[in-house]
Amino acid sequence: MRSIRAIIGGCTAIATLMFLLAFIHPFGNAGIHAQQVNHQPLMSSAPPEVRDLLSAKCADCHSMQTRTPVYGRFAPASWLMERDIIQARNAMNLSRWEQYTPEEQETLKTKMLLETRAHKMPPPQYLAMHWDAQITSTDLVKLTSWARTSALSDSNPTADPAGEGDAARGKTVFEKRCTGCHAMEQDREGPRLHGVFGRTSGTVARFDYSPALKNAHIVWNEKTLERWLTDPDSLVPGNNMEFHVAKPEERRDVIRYLQAESMGK
Ligand code: HEC
Ligand code: HEC
Repeated sequence: MRSIRAIIGGCTAIATLMFLLAFIHPFGNAGIHAQQVNHQPLMSSAPPEVRDLLSAKCADCHSMQTRTPVYGRFAPASWLMERDIIQARNAMNLSRWEQYTPEEQETLKTKMLLETRAHKMPPPQYLAMHWDAQITSTDLVKLTSWARTSALSDSNPTADPAGEGDAARGKTVFEKRCTGCHAMEQDREGPRLHGVFGRTSGTVARFDYSPALKNAHIVWNEKTLERWLTDPDSLVPGNNMEFHVAKPEERRDVIRYLQAESMGK
């Protein structure tokens, strides 16, 4: 009898301690003890089927609408969850969707598609607890068609309608539209682009290209880049770059910039 009582007492003490420790936030405070749920609708500009999908499968980490499970109120689970949530909100906060610029939204849309298609998101530790958050092929169809609708396509068609393109403006386009996935000197989600003008497609060593681009053997020049940036899928069906630049003058500018960067150094 005595030993059972001691065990129960010990367990209660440990549970209490873990509960109290959850109020210490070694990785930052994600507000998981706040009881009030934020009922602001997420992403009012997104189509309802996309909004429902992201609310169900991503919002626990990527928004202010975190639903904390019971075990999440105890350390150390609470600490690990808070670390994930804070990093996730920094990378993309769906509660702030309307405050991202159209360019940022477009980059995030394509990143969401890439992360889910590669089954990197939701992360495995989350799926272990929420098996119903698996990304299905229907989800991917919804995300793909959403990622392809561009809010930017018909804005400001006047700038330099038939010009030659301008490398300085192209640098700005590059920074706004490409650096979400590309850098000049490093591989990110996309391959490094320094020297891309004149390079054969799919040839950066160690970059993990799609088989489609690897086997395309296209030399990147003004013409091929123009077609690639207009609609990558019509040039190389099955490639991994879920992104295009809708405005012709932006394409011309960014191509001039890639050219200047490739000749310069
Ligand atoms: C368990 C929490 C969690 C869930 C659920 C989750 N994510 Fe994430 N996500 C993270 C963390 C943490 C990061 C930042 C660190 C990283 O990139 O791995 C992140 C980063 C991202 C990024 C940015 C990647 C980059 O390269 O900038 C995207 C896009 C993303 N997640 C999409 C999603 C989508 C879409 C879903 C739902 C289908 C989702 N995530 C569900 C935790 C989560
Ligand atoms: C959402 C991420 C993403 C964005 C944004 C993006 N790209 Fe890409 N890009 C990729 C990926 C991924 C690949 C590799 C595709 C493959 O393997 O099929 C790629 C490949 C390329 C290639 C072929 C390079 C080679 O080595 O063959 C060029 C050129 C390119 N991108 C230019 C651009 C430019 C210019 C922009 C901005 C206007 C841009 N990309 C925006 C992800 C992106």
